[in-house]
Amino acid sequence: MQIIIFGSPGVGKGTQAKILNNRLAIPHISTGDLLRDAYRNKTPLGLKAHELIERGELVPDNIMIDLMREMLREKAYQNGFILDGFPRTVSQAEALEKLFKELNFNHTVVLMMQAEEDEIVKRLTNRRTCSSCNNIFTHDKVKGLDTCPNCGAKGTLYQRNDDKEEVIRKRIKIYEESTLPVLNYMRAKEKIYFINALNPVDEVTEEIIKILQGVKEDITV
Ligand code: AP5
Repeated sequence: MQIIIFGSPGVGKGTQAKILNNRLAIPHISTGDLLRDAYRNKTPLGLKAHELIERGELVPDNIMIDLMREMLREKAYQNGFILDGFPRTVSQAEALEKLFKELNFNHTVVLMMQAEEDEIVKRLTNRRTCSSCNNIFTHDKVKGLDTCPNCGAKGTLYQRNDDKEEVIRKRIKIYEESTLPVLNYMRAKEKIYFINALNPVDEVTEEIIKILQGVKEDITV
């Protein structure tokens, strides 16, 4: 099953993708995590993407499409994956559709997570991330901690530079202008499942799992 988690910055895509990855053992591909890891490893891709990410802007389509083309051919993803952060433009959606056809990926489920802008700004300004395992936390949960509650790494909890309010507002604007049109593009081809992301994390997870079980009966949790 190819699960595409779609929605605004900060709506909870990464949180849900990581939980589903743990509970359903479906690999998680986060383009944001890939780009941040690439920057930490000082690869040409990471260095190129870094400035754009810090400014809240999108990385050019050709770079992202090439990255996805390379990744989705890997053996690890042939039985399914959770895609978080791609596609983000109509050009990326067109390229992904072509790639899915080529690779015979034909069990796609699109989940659209929704929440209001004020809640999103609150969540993102409050977010802390682990640079070692990429896990996501709320500030309250890790306040004063020196080690990551998920992987135990020391001194790795940090606040993303693009989680400052002015950058968050810019990311939301770019999402509305460049990414939301992808929903209409996909809606013409796939059924979209709308998720109320304002609910608590575990309720959102249960809603998603019910949807996935409805699509594919042999999903076991
Ligand atoms: P990326 O890392 O993908 O950022 P994003 O899409 O903006 O999404 P976020 O990671 O900010 O939010 P999320 O929805 O995953 O929310 P989370 O679960 O963390 O991309 C970063 C940058 O990389 C982009 O800006 C761009 O520059 C570049 N990039 C990436 N992909 C690209 C592409 N395809 N094309 C071009 N450029 C690309 O949750 C947020 C907070 O809320 C957390 O603290 C969490 O604990 C909390 N939370 C989650 N769910 C709930 C809940 N239900 N209730 C209360 N709190 C909750």
